[in-house]
This record gives sequence, structure tokens and C-alpha cells, in this order.
Amino acid sequence: MEKNLIEIGRLFDTDKTESLGYADNYERHFGHLRDKPVKLLELGVYHGGSLLMWNEYFQKGRAVGLDLSPNPLKTLPERVRFYQGSQDDIALLSLIAEENAPEGFDIIIDDAAHVGTIARQSFRTLFDNHLKPGGTYVIEDWGTGYWKTWPDGSLYHHAQGNRSDKRSGPASFDPNFAVHNFGMVGFIKELVDQVAWGDITRPGFGNSEIASATSVRFPSFFVFQASGIMPPISARVVC
Ligand SMILES: C[S@@+](CC[C@H](N)C(=O)[O-])C[C@H]1O[C@@H](n2cnc3c(N)ncnc32)[C@H](O)[C@@H]1O
Repeated sequence: MEKNLIEIGRLFDTDKTESLGYADNYERHFGHLRDKPVKLLELGVYHGGSLLMWNEYFQKGRAVGLDLSPNPLKTLPERVRFYQGSQDDIALLSLIAEENAPEGFDIIIDDAAHVGTIARQSFRTLFDNHLKPGGTYVIEDWGTGYWKTWPDGSLYHHAQGNRSDKRSGPASFDPNFAVHNFGMVGFIKELVDQVAWGDITRPGFGNSEIASATSVRFPSFFVFQASGIMPPISARVVC
């Protein structure tokens, strides 16, 4: 019987299988693409295990990886490519797209620096120019924005005080959630704005511009964003 993504992931050195339901989520969202010639780009590959996992999962696909560190894999399978560099190097990202997916990637996964301004740079380059209409952009581990120990993270404090009971809402309405502006969490908030573009551009129900994204979803530690580019109605909404 065909192995599922968790079983495949366990064959390789990747943390996507054991923790936080990553592989489960990916299986659910990408399972229908398994037999397709999927072009996938992963930013941040560490030991290369996730690249090998995608290569095994998408048997007709191509998996392309980018990392600050040198290629961790002694031999690259035929359908796998590796580039060394930073995820915010726009020229390099454009070259990678040109060489591997001139018509756009189907899936882009950002599992690299997890720093807001850096992740945003990749997103603005790749989502806007190198993701296929209806493709999916995944940002892993955006919760680092809540980590005090992370370079651009900060502990959660509600504007009303330090409410530790996460089940209850704010004591009174207050539009300021200052700490949510930090790091990856701040960046994710920008994506919410992007999906809300229609409302932003027609605050009085006048003519609105079409949003380039149809959804942002927040399974644990992920953002999934389905891109419509034009028109969003035809885009696959990930759920
Ligand atoms: C969490 S690990 C990736 C794990 C891998 N995707 C997996 O699932 O097994 C993060 C990787 O991102 C790389 N990285 C950190 N900052 C980066 C940057 N600015 N550009 C590219 N890669 C970066 C690190 O070298 C590290 O290998």
C-alpha cells in the first residue's frame, strides 16, 4: 500500500513528522496533488530530509530547496534541486523560479528564518511573482512572534493587562493589541489585511479592488494562503 506523508517523512531526517501535526496538515491539503507534476519550493531545508520527503511523496514533482548553509545532501535525486543563499535575496529567488518553475510554483513553503521582515521579503517576491494562480503559500512557525527569546519575538500581553485566561475575551473593547505587531505575528497580520483588501478599499461599500489572496488559514503553526492573483473566485480555497 502507498505510504502516507507521515510514513514517508519518518524515513528521512525532518521534524515535520513528529511534532505539531505538520505532516497531517500537509497530507490533508496536498493529498489531491500527489500524482500531479507539482513544483514545490522550500525555503530552509536544514539536513535536507524534507526535500527528500517531498521528492518521495510527489513522484512526478520537482522539489527545490534553498538554505543559507551549503547543500546538506551528498547526492541529489534527479528531481531535487538545491540552492545556497538567503531567503530574502530577491535576485536569487527570481533565478530559482526562472530555472525551475517559469510558469510558477504550485507550493511554496517558508520554513527558514522565521523572522518577520525576512519572511515578508520572500513572500512579496514569491507570492506576487512566482506562485501559480490557485497555488499555496505556507508559512511555518509564525508563533515565534510570541517568543521572548526569538530575535524579533515578544511575550503576549493584552493591551488591557496580562490576561492569562485565553478562553475569555478582552474585558472591554479595545482596538489595540500592540504586542501582536511583533515579528512573524506582525507579518501574519499583514496577510490578514491582504485578504481583507476588498473591505479596505471600499470602507463605504463603494467599488472595491479585488484581493490577490482568497484565504489565510491558521492550522497550528501554519499559515496557508491560497492565491488567486486574478480572479480570486477561481482560486482554490484551502481548508
Ligand atoms: C527549521 S530548519 C528547516 C527544517 C526543514 N525544512 C525540515 O522540515 O526538515 C531552518 C533552516 O532555515 C535555514 N535558514 C535560516 N535563515 C535563513 C535564511 N535567511 N535564508 C535561507 N535559509 C535560512 C537554516 O540554515 C536552517 O537550515
